[in-house]
Amino acid sequence: MSETHITMSVNKEVKRITTHILQEMKNRGEKIAMLTAYDYSMAAIVDNAGMDIILVGDSASNVMAGHETTLPITLDQMIYHASSVVRAAKRALVVVDLPFGSYQGNSKEALNSAIRIMKEAGAHAVKMEGGIEIAESVSRILTAGIPVMGHLGLTPQSIYKFGTYTVRAKQEAEAQKLREDALKLQELGCFGIVLEKIPAKLAKEVSESVQIPTIGIGAGRHCDGQVLVIHDMLGINDGFKPRFLRQYSNLFEQMNGAIKNYIGDVKSKSFPNEQEQY
Ligand code: KIV
Repeated sequence: MSETHITMSVNKEVKRITTHILQEMKNRGEKIAMLTAYDYSMAAIVDNAGMDIILVGDSASNVMAGHETTLPITLDQMIYHASSVVRAAKRALVVVDLPFGSYQGNSKEALNSAIRIMKEAGAHAVKMEGGIEIAESVSRILTAGIPVMGHLGLTPQSIYKFGTYTVRAKQEAEAQKLREDALKLQELGCFGIVLEKIPAKLAKEVSESVQIPTIGIGAGRHCDGQVLVIHDMLGINDGFKPRFLRQYSNLFEQMNGAIKNYIGDVKSKSFPNEQEQY
């Protein structure tokens, strides 16, 4: 490999996180850390840092492809992202979103989509948005031995049904449906549930009512784990600062500065210098 390769430290003995380990973590009150990644280099950094779950989210549609919603991303594109992440992940459990249109309303197609993700990308589990309405698809996928993670609350694949990205389940009727959906997903055999953008009080109640781990995003501190979109928490998405987001870096600024310096060095002929040539 040339001097330009990316150097990464490698853990000597790595024990893969499994759905059983996640359950044990909940049982002993240990929080679960989950973060998205969509490509090899980023996933290698995330995995090396000790992440429990890497989510190849359909948020790739937004942050990687620049679409306004998660709806346009295809199954083939998700498989491409997922296979890059799987090649990098030595420790983390890799969960992959089933994209919009690949599982709703047809459990046979849902199973085929999940099988493609497991076979072609080498993923460890799939994630699906919805409750009782997707029960048949969830059940069929589970029957094939594929672990499924549920996703309730704000479900971005249904954005055109709801109309906004505001907090969900504030009204009792929606909260009650969410409680029932969570129990249903558990009963079907899901190994975990993402709770997105719901009141912290409701997330606490749901997390206590189910045995399986809940992973929150904008759902407060009482979930069994937390998930964020990596571009948001690293500050790569300039200007996206919802209340629930803790930004750990400002990579937009840092990268912008570095790139401007490079442009300046090229234009001023200071790069490359004598030591940087052959
Ligand atoms: O696609 C995604 O990144 C997600 C997370 C926001 C949970 O589903």
